[in-house]
Amino acid sequence: MPNIVCVGAQWGDEGKGKIIDVLAKKADYIVRYQGGNNAGHTIVVGKKKFILHLIPSGILHPQKKCVIGNGVVINPEALFTEIDFLKKNNISIKGRLFISDRAHVIFPFHPLIDSLREDKIKNKAKIGTTKRGIGPCYSDKMMRFGIRVCDLIDEGSLSEKLDYLLKEKNKIIKHIYKAKAFDFKEVFKQYCDYARRIKPYVSNTAFLLNKEIDKKKSVLFEGAQGTLLDIDHGTYPYVTSSNATVGGAITGTGIGPTKIDQVIGVVKAYTTRVGEGPMPTEFPPDLMKQIRIKGDEFGATTGRPRRCGWFDAVVVRHAAVINGLTSLAVTKLDVLDEMKTIRICTGYRYKKMVIKDFPSNTNIFSHVMPVYEEHQGWMENTKDITSIKKLPPNAKKYLKRISQLVDVPLSIISVGSKRSQIIIL
Ligand code: IMP
Repeated sequence: MPNIVCVGAQWGDEGKGKIIDVLAKKADYIVRYQGGNNAGHTIVVGKKKFILHLIPSGILHPQKKCVIGNGVVINPEALFTEIDFLKKNNISIKGRLFISDRAHVIFPFHPLIDSLREDKIKNKAKIGTTKRGIGPCYSDKMMRFGIRVCDLIDEGSLSEKLDYLLKEKNKIIKHIYKAKAFDFKEVFKQYCDYARRIKPYVSNTAFLLNKEIDKKKSVLFEGAQGTLLDIDHGTYPYVTSSNATVGGAITGTGIGPTKIDQVIGVVKAYTTRVGEGPMPTEFPPDLMKQIRIKGDEFGATTGRPRRCGWFDAVVVRHAAVINGLTSLAVTKLDVLDEMKTIRICTGYRYKKMVIKDFPSNTNIFSHVMPVYEEHQGWMENTKDITSIKKLPPNAKKYLKRISQLVDVPLSIISVGSKRSQIIIL
């Protein structure tokens, strides 16, 4: 199989878990490259639903090797909860999980500060984060006093760096947020325990992956979140703190761009978003309720109800350009099965202009009005269809129009959460 990057082409939750699961069958390595346990990738195997936050979804395929790359921020508690959960479900990870020695580590003060900050802010500056400490951990990385996995497993280094970091964080926690500070000894002891457990998985994964690619092994890069949540190309400041786009796959693993053969953008047949920030095609309340229930649109990590809306071709076209998408995987087509008419947003009206390009200025983006075209629904069950030819004509027309507007060919259509509910083109 070629080396493929799979990215979200909307605001996350596009159904990447299912698409990765399908593609993983043919890959040798499945690699997470950014984000942390803010992600929630859902995979249904038989009657069992797995939600993975940190470990690549490929772990559900026996024999496949999985890597957590240097671009990821790792909360050890979440990691070991996930490892224990997999073990309980008889999924062996022995010799199959590799963790980068350069990945940064989340400490308990990161989620606390994330949470205190979010709760304190009442105005527009509220991001609506997952409160998993992702932003604070990436901030420390950029400030160059973050603690990496290679420091975690070196007791001397951990002690020295944690001492410095904790003194600073405790000042913020006590004086700005009036909350209880952390005790160095307790955190240090807890993280020394994590270090002992994590050590067997740790290696220079950039070296490992490059060596394996040279041996013609194939790598599947599992993006988390989505293009519109990317720190550079998303709806800043209502974004996450990493590069959820294709660039993140390169910096977050240490693999050069010339080694990547394909970039698949995953999109829902409509749009969803969790957290704050503008979303021009957001449904009115009745339709929101209907689609939220039909599509089970509740966050896989936080359980928060997702905001739902019509497919926004301006957003996905932006993602297509930024990521150089080679094809599109469309998920949850079946959720639209009962819609009489379906809308697609083809541009935005702003003042007296029609904008076709995604605006950088969030103030402008908050005030645009969507320009819609209307399509007739298909009003048929598509859940058990496994060939594009058998899809109702209006469903085919809808998909064709999406592909045309985004200017990217389709490669996969998903019509349900089960592994079998898939159309490969
Ligand atoms: P953070 O990543 O927790 O800092 O949250 C920043 C923004 O990204 C918030 O709007 C979150 O709701 C959103 N977000 C983070 N991870 C995900 C995800 O996996 N799916 C959808 N939205 C996400």
